[in-house]
Amino acid sequence: MTAVGIDAIEIWTGNLKLDLPGTFAPEKGEDPEKYTKGLGLNASSFPDSYEDIVTMGANAAHRLMERKGLEPDDIGRIDVATESAFDNSKPVSTYVAGCLEQVFDGDFHHANKGERKFACIAGTQSLDDAYNWIRAGRNRGRSALVIATDTALYARGDAGEATQGAGAVAMLISEDPNLVELSAEQGYGSADETDFLKPNQQFPSVDGKRSVQVYLARMREALEDYESVAGDVHSEDFAYAPFHTPFPGMVRKAALLAYRHVIRDTSLEDDLADEIGRQPRPEAFDTDDDYRDALREYMDLLKETDAYQEWYAETIDPTLSISREVGNWYTGSVHVARASALKHALENGRDMTGEALLVGSYGSGAQAEIHSEVVREGWEDEIEALNVDAQLEDRYDMSWDDYEEVHDVHNHDMDVDVEEFTAPESEFVFDGWGRMGERK
Ligand code: HMG
Repeated sequence: MTAVGIDAIEIWTGNLKLDLPGTFAPEKGEDPEKYTKGLGLNASSFPDSYEDIVTMGANAAHRLMERKGLEPDDIGRIDVATESAFDNSKPVSTYVAGCLEQVFDGDFHHANKGERKFACIAGTQSLDDAYNWIRAGRNRGRSALVIATDTALYARGDAGEATQGAGAVAMLISEDPNLVELSAEQGYGSADETDFLKPNQQFPSVDGKRSVQVYLARMREALEDYESVAGDVHSEDFAYAPFHTPFPGMVRKAALLAYRHVIRDTSLEDDLADEIGRQPRPEAFDTDDDYRDALREYMDLLKETDAYQEWYAETIDPTLSISREVGNWYTGSVHVARASALKHALENGRDMTGEALLVGSYGSGAQAEIHSEVVREGWEDEIEALNVDAQLEDRYDMSWDDYEEVHDVHNHDMDVDVEEFTAPESEFVFDGWGRMGERK
């Protein structure tokens, strides 16, 4: 069977930067280490007044199509995954296609366009849709463009404010891909939850602490479901495990949960037994509370073992490097984590061809999905082509006053006049008065 997966990827960051320890922490009267060590974030990417989900998505897709030498005729499907949409009828992909048609020969008249919504997991769901469309033989030899784009903003003063971010990831899905092949096996954990939602509102209502527990519960269920179709997962099976990263501290918790899960009933658990005992089993306890207490104690010990720390340093930590500098990109976040991991491999001269990734996606509301990917021969060229370091470096570092002003500009409930700006060279920008996403 021909491999289907991600052929190429491009990342586009919001053009502004909010320094968390330097600018945010002093204003909030917090210890900077709450952000750098606790949440694991140094900075967040923020959209300038002329940026939105369309401009960022179109800029990422434009770079991807140009680099791969593609024309609109090569694309049979455009899906935008976002939870920041502004139009309840017309999908964001039509706006993005409109931008791209300004600069490429031809048009997307014969492409199927849509928009996917399930909080942050929608980016991965769009990959699934593209995968299934190709596998069903409906693509007529064409590729699919999947764009995950969000302005992940919170109300000022909300606990989530420190985790904001803005950016887009464009991915080309095709047969015989250069970057990774997607597995047919998937596992899901899905339940109706109300810890994070935006019913007809721009900024989310969030029960932050509960959202962390819901993420972990759904991820555990997805892992179990994945194992029921793909067989037991072992810690050494995967080179990296990119997870949805609202902030790196969240992945630290998910990684420990995943590690405990994948070492149970293995020789590794036997080896660790002398040092920290065996994992508690629910049947050995009279009450759920007793079991939970014993589990918590075991996890605290496991976290400190050399075996766990080495696995974390090799398999998880490299997935977090971009996220630390950009914050939460919602639908793009897990795809940024994959890119971080492969970038780490490239920078360290690691040959990844044929190696596997365990990918954990999550969306509030809530659903987690686990699948695996196998890295393809062309991965090095694809990752080498990314200019994400330069983009991050070039962001304008906002003062606190700049931040408040630009946050107000993006607040749909406020009527703030956008001052004249100098449009960046070769970018789609939104000028607020003229055509959406006009490329200057
Ligand atoms: P908070 O309550 O302000 O922070 O916000 P905290 O007091 O819990 O501290 C955070 C961590 O920093 C803790 O570490 C503290 O101990 C540590 P932990 O105990 O959790 O390991 N800390 C320090 N460390 C070192 N030095 C210090 C210090 N002070 C504290 N001085 C909260 C945290 C998650 C509630 C907030 O960021 C929030 O509400 N975020 C938004 C919701 C969110 O991101 N949830 C994550 C799971 S849900 C999800 O991922 C879906 C999402 O992406 C949306 C979607 O799917 O669409 C959000």
